[in-house]
Amino acid sequence: MTNSIIANPSLSHLPFSPIRTMFNAAAEMDNVLHLSIGQPDFDGPAHIVAVHKRALTDGHTRYALDAGMPELRQAVADRYNQLYDIRLKPTNVLITTGCCQAMYMAIHALTCPGKEWIVTEPAFVFSHVIAQAGGIQRRIVTTPDNGYQIDPQQVIDAMSDNTCGILLNSPGNPTGAVMPVETLTPILEEAARRGIGVLSDEVYDRLILDDIDYPTALVHAPSLHHVVMASSLSKSYALPGLRIGWAISSEENIVALQRMHMFISTTEHTAAQHAAVAALEGDQSCVANMVAAYRQRRDRLVKIFNETPCINGYSPGGAFFVMPSFPACTDSFDFAMRMLKEIKVCTIPGGAFGDSCNHALRISFATDIDTIERAMEKMIPWLEKQSS
Ligand SMILES: Cc1ncc(COP(=O)(O)O)c(C=O)c1O
Repeated sequence: MTNSIIANPSLSHLPFSPIRTMFNAAAEMDNVLHLSIGQPDFDGPAHIVAVHKRALTDGHTRYALDAGMPELRQAVADRYNQLYDIRLKPTNVLITTGCCQAMYMAIHALTCPGKEWIVTEPAFVFSHVIAQAGGIQRRIVTTPDNGYQIDPQQVIDAMSDNTCGILLNSPGNPTGAVMPVETLTPILEEAARRGIGVLSDEVYDRLILDDIDYPTALVHAPSLHHVVMASSLSKSYALPGLRIGWAISSEENIVALQRMHMFISTTEHTAAQHAAVAALEGDQSCVANMVAAYRQRRDRLVKIFNETPCINGYSPGGAFFVMPSFPACTDSFDFAMRMLKEIKVCTIPGGAFGDSCNHALRISFATDIDTIERAMEKMIPWLEKQSS
């Protein structure tokens, strides 16, 4: 007889994150230089935090409406309408507990058990939810040699009658790669033509480090009927702890997701929703200032990569990650752990994002430039030693 009451076998598809293994090992050591962090190193902007606090003292402690506060649904629609010159309505928006909940619900809603999702690799950990929902992952591998860019034709060729979803993530975690419009548009058009749903994880949509118009599925999809876009306050406004995110899609899809939402969280933290309105409607210079800092760090790292033969790097166009590969690295889990133990620099093994990434490490630049410089000063001689 087993002692476990956990009877649902689908849970076995949800692994414990290898990222935790690195953090736990680093926590036992002193003076570790972290290039591992997956959240902004900035404090939440003061004007937004002030609204959050005031909302609590003003008594905003009750449930909000289940699809989200009407003012917040409007503020999300308005922000994107202004950014992209589109015409979202508040009814195209569902407020969720971070981008995570929007993704979890969308994957469950789009998955037809036994059918396939096309997932580009490296893939953020959410792809595991596909198997938990009964779907099968069909991975399309990208490499650092061309900055982890996808060939759209490969994605189109992988679409079949057995495909129920396509998972896109641009800018990507762990690569920082931004999908150009020439890649995004044909994928969205072919998916719509075949009636395949696209989940576009755009949680880093405001952290664009090159001087380009960010290609979003909201603009380039033929319609919102075949797209769910997920994003949040977490990265753009450095407010991951407020747990406010959103799903954007056609009104019909949003109503369907709302039914699930009712049974998962019912409603998000009401005071945090007030703060989110302040974030989206207020002065946006806080976002621009953070992007400028990430850009400076990205440029510094890319310069170092270009000068260092034992690092196969590239320039990430967004987010605060880069995932170079290293000729000396064949088992990224062992490589990252040895580097942590021997020189106290913590990175994330590429293998956490797919079997094809085992020669790479995710480096986060959500940390100050001094930490980046000191970590690189230790890493480069260590890497050279591994290669010799
Ligand atoms: C690619 C990606 N998607 C989604 C999320 C979840 O973000 P949130 O904090 O809004 O739930 C993260 C968080 O690290 C992420 O990196």
